Amino acid sequence: MSDCKHHQVIIIGAGAAGLMCALTAGYRGRDVLLLDNAKQLGRKILISGGGRCNFTNLQTQPSAYLCANPHFVKSALARYTQWDFIDMVERHGIAYHEKTLGQLFCDESAKDIVQMLTTECDWAGVKTQLRTEILAISKEDSGFLLHTSEGDYRCDSLVIASGGLSMPKLGATPFGFKVAQQFGLPVLPTSAGLVPFTLQPEDKAKFECLAGISLPVTVTAACGQVFSEALLFTHRGLSGPAVLQISSFWRPGETVSFDLLPGINFVDWYKTINAESPKLSIKNALSRLLPKRFVERLVEIGELPDKTLNQLGKGEIEALASYFASWQIAPGGTEGYRTAEVTLGGVDTDALSSKTMEAKACPGLYFIGEVVDVTGWLGGYNFQWAWSSGHAAGEAV
Ligand code: FDA
Repeated sequence: MSDCKHHQVIIIGAGAAGLMCALTAGYRGRDVLLLDNAKQLGRKILISGGGRCNFTNLQTQPSAYLCANPHFVKSALARYTQWDFIDMVERHGIAYHEKTLGQLFCDESAKDIVQMLTTECDWAGVKTQLRTEILAISKEDSGFLLHTSEGDYRCDSLVIASGGLSMPKLGATPFGFKVAQQFGLPVLPTSAGLVPFTLQPEDKAKFECLAGISLPVTVTAACGQVFSEALLFTHRGLSGPAVLQISSFWRPGETVSFDLLPGINFVDWYKTINAESPKLSIKNALSRLLPKRFVERLVEIGELPDKTLNQLGKGEIEALASYFASWQIAPGGTEGYRTAEVTLGGVDTDALSSKTMEAKACPGLYFIGEVVDVTGWLGGYNFQWAWSSGHAAGEAV
């Protein structure tokens, strides 16, 4: 074992969390090796936010995260905030803008964020090694021994930042969960989050012809969680920010309710427009509020009567009011990890220190980023968790 190299800190996974952890530990003077099996680092950052990386959210707060222990995220988020990351972005002269709902995007390209993090890692003296398969990990009296495709390595602190299962095409692997299990840490069941819904065959037949149509809605999950964002019809089912958000709160078999006319009292609206134009068809009247093709489709499938406003009876008006206020869809499923932005579940936070991300039962072993049972809402919250948890571990290793 004479050629076994030693580093104080080895981080597995050169994604968002791993890069932040590496630069933080590097600036503390730690000797850090960042390993990844991919040939390029930060691949998810590069494709995120449509290539512009929604790198944080101005409204970041613990309530925007799903976790079996909702208090777990508080410490890390408070010690490395959205303002800390924005400060780094500004120091690197990266232009950015708020798109909507506090979501910050690069003006130019997500490449700027990867460049910023790699530059910081260089300044902090971090060594990075890509194309490295981790074949086995074992615990030694002090520290860990790693067998890799590029040789053996020893370290005092080992950080697992290998992400979740979403988008296997981009190199997602269950590696982190396996390491957790190897060292006796519980892993909570995982599922796809921030993911489009597929529809049951009957609904698919009704709505697939609307692919591409988008409308603002308020969506409510069975658990009561509510989001007001856009709904998008797709060839497979439903997507758009409203659906991605609510998908993280949906369980198979549950129904999701959409208010298709948020902020509009249907009965009052009907009374006004009926007084003005009683001979107008309900289809044409509603086309002033909703996409025309959607309204036409509702008539075709018999969910909207083909009548003029003044032909509608009181019962029909009330039924339509409740139809548009709570359009019920029982999704057939989700598109799964293939298109999911994140993985729900993961390493149980009860097994980790919320201050340092260190495994309570295995000193020196840390888990950060998406591999942990912490999932943010859509809108930059997941990267902020990667930055905050990466920073927390980087301060401790
Ligand atoms: P991440 O997945 O970034 O990194 C893990 C690293 O580990 C990778 O480099 C991988 O190659 C490596 N790895 C995996 N297995 C390994 C193994 N066996 N051996 C060695 N290395 C291994 N979030 C957000 O806040 N704003 C946004 O705009 C977006 N946009 C977005 C778009 C798309 C299409 C996706 C799929 C996801 C997003 N996200 C997002 C979510 C965000 O990308 C995600 O939360 C973070 O990348 C998680 O950071 P991690 O560092 O934990 O994992």
